[in-house]
Parts: sequence; structure tokens; C-alpha cells
Amino acid sequence: MSSKKPSPAAGHESVLRRKIQSKKFNAGVIGLGYVGLPLAIAFARAGVHVTGFDVDKEKVEKIKRGVSYIGDVPSESVRDLVRKKRLIATTHFDDLKKMDTINICVPTPLRKSRDPDISYIVSAVREIEQRSRPGQLVILESTTYPGTTDEVLAPALVRKGRTIGRDAFVAFSPERVDPGNPKYKIENTPKVVGGMTPACTDLAAAFYRIAIQQVVTVSNPTVAEMVKLLENTYRAINIGMANEMAQLCHKLKVNVWEVIDAAATKPFGFTPFYPGPGLGGHCIPIDPLYLAWRVKLFNVTAKLIELASDINSGMPDFVIERTTEMLNVRKKSINGARIVILGATYKRDVADVRESPAVEIIEKLGHLGADLAVCDPNVPSVAAGGRTIPTTPISADLLRRADIAILLTDHSAFDYGMIVASAPLVFDTRNAVIRALGRVPTNVVRL
Ligand SMILES: NC(=O)c1ccc[n+]([C@@H]2O[C@H](COP(=O)([O-])OP(=O)(O)OC[C@H]3O[C@@H](n4cnc5c(N)ncnc54)[C@H](O)[C@@H]3O)[C@@H](O)[C@H]2O)c1
Repeated sequence: MSSKKPSPAAGHESVLRRKIQSKKFNAGVIGLGYVGLPLAIAFARAGVHVTGFDVDKEKVEKIKRGVSYIGDVPSESVRDLVRKKRLIATTHFDDLKKMDTINICVPTPLRKSRDPDISYIVSAVREIEQRSRPGQLVILESTTYPGTTDEVLAPALVRKGRTIGRDAFVAFSPERVDPGNPKYKIENTPKVVGGMTPACTDLAAAFYRIAIQQVVTVSNPTVAEMVKLLENTYRAINIGMANEMAQLCHKLKVNVWEVIDAAATKPFGFTPFYPGPGLGGHCIPIDPLYLAWRVKLFNVTAKLIELASDINSGMPDFVIERTTEMLNVRKKSINGARIVILGATYKRDVADVRESPAVEIIEKLGHLGADLAVCDPNVPSVAAGGRTIPTTPISADLLRRADIAILLTDHSAFDYGMIVASAPLVFDTRNAVIRALGRVPTNVVRL
């Protein structure tokens, strides 16, 4: 009988596989925001020891105290896992050395020029590179342009003398978390994974299976990066079409919501998308531009992306134009009008104003001289036009004194009956009133 020793390559892979299968390993998550914190919690809940790394001392201190700052993560979960020492938060990146797996969940915004800003990924990768040791699995989760894992993450490990697929394992797995979604959480949303080699894909898939019900593997990280961009581009373009339809229907004096609802009764070949005051959040307005930027390097214009982006980014102006028309009918101008903004976050029931169209609308109405009150039970204030505007509690009295209330975010905490009974005029950009009351009162105008 030959007693062949496993090759060093198989060695690192099989050692890590055993650790993952037995859940006896240290999992590191870099970036404890909307994506990283729920991920860290899901693995800690599944029985893994998780260390969360963040540059934000305040967030780290909150985790240590068992306080959550993310709507979908209850503080009790954080407290419980911190008490059981399954979840640790730190700003000390030296502990990355001890990690067997590392997930990168840092922001990927746009620069002022609307080009990708991957500086947060670059700095997280630098931290990993400095502490890299053989046998680690590194997975990038931040949404980014196709090729980032290949061109930014893997070379950093190779510079440290690692061979990908032998003593370092690298994959991309897009995050699909939908903040505020009561049905789909991290555990029951299928996870797409693409590794640099088959061993990388296998290990990353085994890792995710610990906490996530379904893992879908693809042939490499670039495919996985592209999957995320396809998903979000699909949404951005279809919302762009719905927004264009809203503008066309207004000209034709047809109600767009009625049209979409009737079209949606077709049982095949039609998926409804709805208009609104503009795109918001960290993903839909931004991610397609990562793809458009990337293909510019090949002298290709992503025509649909650019067109949808133009239409979507014109929606705040459309809302202001419609408001102006409505006030004009009542012999009022925006200048001096008392306007109550209902909802400032980018979508219902979240506390996130990033890229929210409400910010642009508030800023522009302010410049036009409107006397504004902003009501949003989910945020204490909104930064718009270089000012921080504190939110005002919604009340029948405030609405009665207004010339118009513009509903920009359809929070479920709003009392729609009270709103329509009090405000003389409501501009409903979300079709929320009919969903809440089953009717459209005469003082309500829909987008
Ligand atoms: N928010 C979403 O709904 C969502 C959904 C899917 C994908 N994504 C993507 O996930 C990524 C993260 O988004 P998010 O919403 O969680 O962002 P976020 O701003 O909520 O959190 C990012 C965290 O990373 C930290 N950070 C920044 N640089 C760091 C560094 N060098 N080292 C350690 N920590 C660092 C920040 O302090 C912050 O706590 C982005 O690429 C985003 O596009 C977000």
C-alpha cells in the first residue's frame, strides 16, 4: 500500500474544507454596514465565530455594546451573539491573520464624475495583503465592475507569494440583501458564487451553505460580478421605462397606475414595474453605471443604461414640474408655498437616505423659495443643499396649514386616512393612497 502524502496544494484546500465543514474556523467580515452586519450575524447564528472589521469606531463600539444600527438586525440578536462570543467587532486589522475566511463588504460609490470609486475595496484588499497567510479564503461581496476580483483582489495575494487555488482561495459572491424585505432575508435568498479556480468555488460554496439555503455556482468571479450588474440593470431599465410611461401618460391624460395594473393581469410576458419620484439607494442608481464605465474601456456605449439613467435622474424635476402645475391651478407659486414632504428615505420603511430622490427634490424646492416641512418617522434629519433639515412630526394641523403635501416615500407608519382628510392637496408619487384606502379622494393627484 502506498502511503502518499497529500500534496501541499490539496493540503490547504482539504484543511480549510474540514474546518468549514466542522464550522470550526474564524470568519472575518470587512465592513459592518447594511451588507456586512447581516452577513456576520447570519454566520454567527449558524454557529461560526465571526469577527467584524470596520474603520468606523462608532459602529464597532455599538456592536460591542450589543446595539444594532441596521433596521433589519435586532439589537437582541447582536447582544446575544456578542455575549456568546460568536460575534466580535474590531478596528484592529492585525486580527485578519487569524481569519480562515474573509468577506469584503465595503462601499462602492461613484465619484463626482459618476465613475466607479473602488478605493474602499482597494484599501480593504491592502489590509488583507499585509496580513495574508496561506490557506485563507477571500470573498469579495461589494458590487463592482466585472474584472475587479481578477484584477484587484487576486493580484494582491499573488504579490504576497500565494498561488490562487493552491494556498489562497478567491471568489466573488454578489450580495442580494433587500433592506426592509420581510420575506427574503440573507438565509433564504439564493447566493451566487464564482471562484477563480474550481477549488475556490467549492470552498466558497461550502462556506455559504453553512448559513444560506441555496448556493448557485458559476464558472468564474467575472460571471458572478456580471450577475449582480444584470440584476440591477434590469431593474434600473425597467423602472426607467415605467418612469417614461408616467411622463407619456401625463401628456395623454391617462393614469399610468391604472394602465400598469391592468397590463399586469396578463399572466405571461409582462412583469410590472412602477414609476416613482426617482431612483434611490446604494444599488439601483449606481451599479449599472459601473458596467457602463467598464465597457467604455472597449469603446462601447451601454445605450440602454445611459438612457434609463437619464430618464430616472429626471424624475425629481418631473415631480417639481407637476407640483408647479398643481399650485398654478390654485393661483400659487412654489415661491412661498407651504409644502409638506412626506417621506425622505429612498424607499418604504428603511432609514436610509442615500441617493434618495427626496434629497434633490427638497434641495430644489428650497432653492425655489418653498416653505418646507419634512416628515419622515424613520430619520431625524435630512442633509440637502448644504443644510441639515430636522424632520417634523406629522400632524393634521401641519397638513391643514400646507398648500400641498408631496408623498415621496410610502412608509407604512403613515396614517393615510389622516393625511387625505387634513391636507388640502396631496401629490402621491407612489400610488400609496389607493393601496391604503382603496380609493383616490378628489384632493389626491397621482404621479
Ligand atoms: N445596501 C444594500 O442594500 C446593498 C445590497 C446589495 C449590495 N450592496 C453592496 O454591498 C456593498 C456594501 O454596501 P453597504 O450598503 O453595506 O455599505 P455601508 O456603507 O452600509 O457599509 C459599509 C461599511 O464598510 C466600512 N468600511 C469602509 N471602508 C472600510 C475599510 N477599508 N475597512 C473596513 N471597513 C470599511 C464602513 O465604515 C461601513 O460600515 C456595496 O458594494 C454595495 O453596493 C448593498
